[in-house]
Parts: sequence; C-alpha cells; structure tokens
Amino acid sequence: MRLFPIISILSLLCVSSLIGAPSSSSEDLGFAVFRDRCMACHLQSGMGIKEMNAPSIAGLPCWHVSDQLRKFRRDQRGFHADDAPGHLMQAKAIALDEKSIAFVGRHIESLTPNEGRNTLAEKVSKTSNSLYRKQCQDCHGEHGEGDRPNRVPPLTSQQDWYLLKQIENFQTGKRIHFENDSSNELDEEQLQSIVAWICSLPARPPE
Ligand code: HEC
Ligand code: HEC
Repeated sequence: MRLFPIISILSLLCVSSLIGAPSSSSEDLGFAVFRDRCMACHLQSGMGIKEMNAPSIAGLPCWHVSDQLRKFRRDQRGFHADDAPGHLMQAKAIALDEKSIAFVGRHIESLTPNEGRNTLAEKVSKTSNSLYRKQCQDCHGEHGEGDRPNRVPPLTSQQDWYLLKQIENFQTGKRIHFENDSSNELDEEQLQSIVAWICSLPARPPE
C-alpha cells in the first residue's frame, strides 16, 4: 500500500513520454542507466544476447519494463531455485531505485524494436492463426500488441527462443502467467506454431 503513490507517480513518468518529448536531462539519465547497467547483456541496440538468455527488450513499452523490473525486485519473477536467467536479471533489478527504473524504461521504449526475429518461420501453418486467436488473442490482442490497462505485454518484439522459454517457465511454475493458465494443454508442436505466428507479426501493430 505504501508503494502505491510512488508507483502512480512513476507510471505518470511512463505516460509523459507519450505526450511530450522527454527533456534532455531525463534522456541522459535513462541512457546512462542503460549504458552502465544493462548494455553488457542487452547490447546498446537492446537486441539482447541469446547465448546469455538475455532477450531483446528494444521498443518494449515503459510500463511493461517497469512492471517486470518490480516483479524481479519483489521476487515475483526469478524466484524459482532452478531459474538461472531469472536470478541473473533479478540481481540487476534489485540494484535499481524507482527513479532509475522509470527513466531506463523510457530509454528502452525509444529503441527500435526487433524485426526479422523468426527463425521458426517454417512452423507457421494453417492452424497457427486460429490457435493464437483461440488461446491468446483475448488478452494479448489481435496484433499481439498487448493491453496496457490489464498489464498484458505486447509479444511482437520478442525473439522466438525467448517466447518459448517464457512459456516453458509458465508451464513449469518458474513464472506466473495468469490464474488458471491452460497453456499446459498445448503440445510442443502447437506452441511452436503459435510462437512462429506471433513472430511473423510486425513489431509495431498497424495504426
Ligand atoms: C547479466 C546480464 C543482464 C543484465 C546486465 C541485465 N539483464 Fe535484463 N535480462 C537478462 C536475462 C538473462 C533476462 C531473461 C530473464 C528470464 O528469462 O526470465 C532478462 C530480462 C529482462 C527483462 C524482461 C523482458 C520481458 O519482456 O519481460 C527486462 C525488462 C530487462 N531484462 C531489463 C533490463 C534492464 C532495464 C537492465 C539494466 C538496468 C538489465 N535488464 C540488465 C540479463 C541481464
Ligand atoms: C488471461 C489473459 C492471458 C492469456 C489468455 C494469455 N496471456 Fe500471455 N500474458 C498475460 C499476462 C497478464 C502476462 C504478463 C505476466 C507477467 O507480468 O509476468 C503475459 C505474459 C506472456 C508472456 C511473457 C512476455 C514477456 O515479455 O516476458 C508470453 C511469452 C505470453 N504471455 C504468451 C502467451 C501465449 C502464447 C498465449 C496463448 C497460448 C497467452 N500468452 C495467453 C495474459 C494472458
């Protein structure tokens, strides 16, 4: 409860990046945090390093970045004993204060999102779109654009390997997706087909 006012103010910082150009000092702070604390694994472009399990975060909305950094900090993500990538990221998130979280989120949002990320392209089949529509679209949106009011992230700037890894984390209880998640019922083939579909969507949804 005590955190609520702070979080509201910082959410506004994310909003203000949409309605006005950030001042150069806030740009500098966001970039400085990113350069000093994030680039080693996510690269200057934000594209990440697969060998380190570090995903592409370029272009992710500020609110999602803030949400996830707070989840790592509060042990709501990266809590599982057998989640090495989660532990790696948790250590980085714990070291950030609220101000740095807000500013680095704005910097990440300003980066150009990843395109051409679909190494699973051959797995797109006739059923991919209908599986996505049935299982994921209600929450993640027709174009994979997410749903900010309900804190559902966009999926369209992520690489296939990261999406598959996170779904595996949901299925094995290493990360919480949502209550009564039924993605366990999907077999490997169906998941690959859905992920291939998601990766075929443009990184920015059509206007
Ligand atoms: C030591 C390497 C490393 C550093 C440094 C690092 N990260 Fe990460 N990051 C990771 C890994 C690994 C993951 C994947 C975690 C998982 O699989 O759950 C990740 C995941 C994330 C995610 C989740 C993406 C999503 O879509 O949910 C965000 C956001 C993120 N990092 C932001 C940052 C920010 C901001 C910084 C700098 C303050 C940073 N990272 C520094 C390794 C790193
Ligand atoms: C009931 C709503 C709902 C449905 C249905 C749903 N999701 Fe999600 N999804 C969420 C929410 C909420 C999150 C954010 C979880 C968090 O904050 O860690 C999420 C997160 C994710 C992530 C992690 C993204 C990231 O950046 O780390 C992936 C991958 C994902 N969903 C894939 C899917 C797929 C594939 C389907 C369909 C098989 C699906 N989801 C169906 C609500 C949903």
